[in-house]
Amino acid sequence: MDIAEVLTLADQLIFAKTGKHLDYVQDAILRGTLEDATYTQIAQELYSSPSHVRNVGSDLWKTLSKGLKKDITKNNFRAVLEKGIVYNYQSAIVENITGESITVNNKLNICHEKVRSPKTPPNPQPTTKQPRIDLGDAPEMSTFFDRTSELSTLENWILSRTRLITILGLSGIGKTALTLQLIPQIQHEFDCIIWRSLHNAPPLASLQTDIIKFLSQQQETELPDLINYLRSHRCLIILDDVQTIFSSGQLAGNYQPGYENYGAFFKQIAESCHNSCIILISWEKPREIAALENRPKTCQTLQLNGLGEAAREIFTEKGLAESEKWSKLIDLYRGNPLWLHTAAAAIKDLFNGNISDFLSYDSLVLGDLEYLLHQHFKRLSDTEKQVMSWLANQNKAVEISKKPALLELSPSEFLKAVESLRRRSLIEKVQKVDRTLFAVQGAIAEYVKNHTLQHS
Ligand SMILES: Nc1ncnc2c1ncn2[C@@H]1O[C@H](COP(=O)(O)OP(=O)(O)O)[C@@H](O)[C@H]1O
Ligand SMILES: [Mg+2]
Repeated sequence: MDIAEVLTLADQLIFAKTGKHLDYVQDAILRGTLEDATYTQIAQELYSSPSHVRNVGSDLWKTLSKGLKKDITKNNFRAVLEKGIVYNYQSAIVENITGESITVNNKLNICHEKVRSPKTPPNPQPTTKQPRIDLGDAPEMSTFFDRTSELSTLENWILSRTRLITILGLSGIGKTALTLQLIPQIQHEFDCIIWRSLHNAPPLASLQTDIIKFLSQQQETELPDLINYLRSHRCLIILDDVQTIFSSGQLAGNYQPGYENYGAFFKQIAESCHNSCIILISWEKPREIAALENRPKTCQTLQLNGLGEAAREIFTEKGLAESEKWSKLIDLYRGNPLWLHTAAAAIKDLFNGNISDFLSYDSLVLGDLEYLLHQHFKRLSDTEKQVMSWLANQNKAVEISKKPALLELSPSEFLKAVESLRRRSLIEKVQKVDRTLFAVQGAIAEYVKNHTLQHS
């Protein structure tokens, strides 16, 4: 049975009736019911009480019964699906919370594969069991400030069984640190956790072999298929530095020759039924992700922005004086912790700790930071370089609804370049009441103005 599609239908019905998406308890009840698990077994998987799960279940069946105009219970849910009573509808007309009729797509396919054999509890592990963890080449955790809301967003996505999560942002913004911080919060959810960096751009086949060997604890050549393993176990795979497999000199998210099969792999992980999760950490959004985004359970993206005022802690830690100027520094470096560390080191080393002298200096993009930004800019396509130069020199947020006359690009090239620069986190969106503006700000604008971006 295609669990993913059943869950999508249920989510649409629940949302239409209540204005809320399926939560992780409802999700677990539906999954468990399809796998013939009892409320007690489902509660065990959720580390919750059977009575709570039973109550949530009872409300869930009532909502589904109303939505599908059919009496649905835990006992008959599977049979109703199998008899095709739900599937045979081309669409279910349900009334949403405001009373208007809306159409919910429920063209479901039945795939006869079972995720787990019936009677097997959804999570056979005792609650005390620790997951097997291989963090591979992940860096050591160091001092970590704030990110409370990002951590809770990620935790919620994991608890609601999102299969593919992408964390995007410029280098140094804190993607790796955030993900490391997340692990202790969610590790009890998983049977195995594996972290791999794609820094050396491994071909997909060797990465998969490496992952399967760890997950299945087998060394032989006859290894199980990865997707099958992800179905029968709840695994978390974290892939860092995913940008390495994308081409330089092209719009964002285009695979390097020989790495295109990663795209199909990410899509398979997002769309097929299994119990695991993959987190991609990248500077660039993979092309597939844009099409899959924001589908419950399928794919979610976290665009990681700066640390905001929490970044003041970095200056306190560095022993910087003139705290009234810290907000200006945070704004210039967009709260990027690595850039702020770099700026603080330069202020101490070159300006004897004097922030005013540093701020009045001609260039705010020095040494190490210049190198970091160069890594991003050398990946841009020619059209992106042109748009970047134009936007950085506007010195304010601007509309992009019309292509600027002075750029020798077609309107479509212009829009594609803007979209691609957004996917690289190089331009910011400034939301006004009635329109959206775009800008290049802070140290990035400074870098662009001081460097002629070389067109090939
Ligand atoms: N929330 C944070 N609080 C303090 N330091 C942070 C935080 N996030 C990141 N850092 C520090 O900033 C640097 C860059 O973070 P990192 O996670 O490696 O960035 P990215 O993976 O996005 O390139 C690291 O030295 C890291 O310790
Ligand atoms: Mg990183």
